[in-house]
Amino acid sequence: MIPIKSPSEIERMRRACAAAAEVLCAVAALVQPGRTTAELNDAAGECIRLLGGKSPFLGYRGYPGHVCVSVNDEVVHGIPGSRKIQYGDIVSLDVGIVIDGYVGDNATTVAVGVMKPRTAELLRVTEQALHAGIAQARPGKRVGDISHAIQAMVEAHGFSAVREFVGHGVGKKMHEEPQIPNFGKADTGPKLKAGMTLAIEPMINAGTHEVQVLSDGWTVVTADGASSAHFEHTVLVTEGEAEILTWQKKMQ
Ligand code: MF3
Ligand code: CO
Repeated sequence: MIPIKSPSEIERMRRACAAAAEVLCAVAALVQPGRTTAELNDAAGECIRLLGGKSPFLGYRGYPGHVCVSVNDEVVHGIPGSRKIQYGDIVSLDVGIVIDGYVGDNATTVAVGVMKPRTAELLRVTEQALHAGIAQARPGKRVGDISHAIQAMVEAHGFSAVREFVGHGVGKKMHEEPQIPNFGKADTGPKLKAGMTLAIEPMINAGTHEVQVLSDGWTVVTADGASSAHFEHTVLVTEGEAEILTWQKKMQ
């Protein structure tokens, strides 16, 4: 069963998602050469606390961070630590917050200093693919329409969508039904209805779609060492266009 949120639950989702966006934006602003990923994690933890929330990631299946910080060929679930950010890196930040019993979830990839043109294209296309997916999140459409839109967009540019990790429903729990793959067939899967809240999150590789999990049990890396980007919003399905609940004006 895919939960349909009541108006009061939607209000609580709005607050959690606005906070998640606020924290993501704050941490993104701290991505600088010389900073460690642990420092970004500490800042995120402090911001989450100041907003009266908790990280839904911390302790999830034993995950040790407030946030995930994934650099270059790291796709998702990078554990914050002593790694220092360098010029030329791309840094994917994944930030969730639970406030008043509801979860907001969002992610972005930021560049440190400069990017090669193909890396800039990877980030641009991944964000475009997220918005192409969101455009399909309407009543009467199916989950596969979101998946297909994302896959078509990234493959048209020669990039590849990770198969093993997916977007998801989000609400009282960080992961609710449905799963939202970033590849698939249009007009397949569960039907979308107004009141669903979905975390849509393309994880897109410059090279092969294949990934591996490092021996820390968490960090997902590309199998070929090529770069990877990750953009995520929590959205509300409405009778019209989906509403992006994790919109952050400062991030534009
Ligand atoms: N935003 C990620 C997700 O949607 C975060 C989960 S990672 C973990 O699955 F660290 F919490 F495990
Ligand atoms: Co997510």
